Amino acid sequence: MENLLAREELSRQKLYMADVAEMMKVRARGPVPMAYVRTYGCQQNVADGEKIKGLLSEMGFSFAESPEDADFILFNTCAVREHAEDRVFGNVGALKNIKRRHPATIIAVCGCMTEQEHVVERFKKSYPFVNIVFGTHVIHRLPEMLYTTITDSKRVFLRGHEGEEVLEGIPTRRDGKSRAWVTVMLGCDNFCSYCIVPYVRGREKSRRPDEIVKECRELVEAGYKEITLLGQNVNSYGKGLEEKVNFAELLRRIDQIPGDYRIRFMTSHPKDASKELFDVMAQSQHIPHYIHLPFQSGNDRVLKEMNRHYDREQYLSLIRYARSVMPDVSFTSDVIVGFPGETYEEFQDTLSLIREVEFTSLFTFIYSPRQGTKAAKMPDPISHEEKTRWFAELLKVQEEVAAARCQKMVGTTERVLVEERNEKSGLLSGRTNSSVIIEFPGEDDLIGEYVTVKVTSARSWMLFGELAQ
Ligand code: SAH
Ligand code: SF4
Ligand code: F3S
Repeated sequence: MENLLAREELSRQKLYMADVAEMMKVRARGPVPMAYVRTYGCQQNVADGEKIKGLLSEMGFSFAESPEDADFILFNTCAVREHAEDRVFGNVGALKNIKRRHPATIIAVCGCMTEQEHVVERFKKSYPFVNIVFGTHVIHRLPEMLYTTITDSKRVFLRGHEGEEVLEGIPTRRDGKSRAWVTVMLGCDNFCSYCIVPYVRGREKSRRPDEIVKECRELVEAGYKEITLLGQNVNSYGKGLEEKVNFAELLRRIDQIPGDYRIRFMTSHPKDASKELFDVMAQSQHIPHYIHLPFQSGNDRVLKEMNRHYDREQYLSLIRYARSVMPDVSFTSDVIVGFPGETYEEFQDTLSLIREVEFTSLFTFIYSPRQGTKAAKMPDPISHEEKTRWFAELLKVQEEVAAARCQKMVGTTERVLVEERNEKSGLLSGRTNSSVIIEFPGEDDLIGEYVTVKVTSARSWMLFGELAQ
């Protein structure tokens, strides 16, 4: 039923697409309408940005490198920390001048920020030059929103309800030719006490496994070399599906697609990471022995206050199991410093966990209060200056750990997918199976290909090498 409605909805949008395409031809400043899409935040947003660009492409848009050259400007925003939001308000504010010079420019803001009432109010009141503001559940209605702004010259504010199932069939314009993102599930049900994501992305919904496998097969056949499966908590994949399939089983099915490619996935929540997952990784053809497994804090009291549903020992036992089935496995993680009420002693437990696990890299954040979350109401006596000192201490420990790990890789031979040429160093750049950045000399035609690289030296968290063939 839902899927039928979804199909009807997409055909309704097709009608708007044709009209917008015609109208934009006239409205554009140049020979073709140009769009500038800027995405902030996590890969989920990047994947949404590719769908938005897919829709725009079908409406005849080409893509501009700078907002100055665009007839349509869209900011796809992230709400995870205050700093991220402040940047967006600043950057959107700066568009006022472009609008003054080119009044026909259409300006839109979407993404996680605009799922919050207080943010929408702020755009409504203080940013009158923004034409369209829409939420994360109505991306597919962009053609209709453009149509309304163009024909009525009215501002559009749209937020939708989440459907029961994931809407399939939205066109996608992928940014890369060798690496692709595939969303396997949307939303998050975990409500970690500090986190805004469940409020702005809604409840967990999984895509059907056959749809996912089909998309992955098409990508491999089209020559993609790395597929990253996305979800806020991929390990709880499958909830609510008719067919009983968990994430480990989904990986098993994708792994059977023949070809030379690698499967990555993120994010794994430790509370749902199973031995079965590590077993599948160990036995697979295409999954590197690498996992991003955010621990957030090494202290049990803090973990409980964060509502993470695991303790330090459970986390470490997962790491031990993964190492027992994949001796060469490597880990990266996310950490929060200065959660409300965290003491310096408790923070030391985070440092000791980093030393114990030896992460290859860490994504580190100072706690940022988010309106509407449980943690935002908790007493937070430690000053920001103090937290900044702890943060510097953490970075120092992580640098030591990562440098030691990288040093150990010197002399080994690594399989690397060449991603780009680093303009600064002039070297080719890619990642090892363990997701460590490595640079080496080579020709441009290797970009997008797998190569074997011998690691010759290491510098803190990155490697240098030379082609081995
Ligand atoms: N679903 C993923 C990650 C979501 S957000 C997971 O559970 O791991 C990415 C990271 O941002 C989180 O892992 C956390 O470390 C950080 N983060 C989320 N909310 C935050 C906040 N309010 N302040 C600081 N960091 C936060
Ligand atoms: Fe946020 Fe926790 Fe969900 Fe990750 S699992 S998105 S940190 S609520
Ligand atoms: Fe940010 Fe939304 Fe991702 S809040 S981290 S873009 S899910």
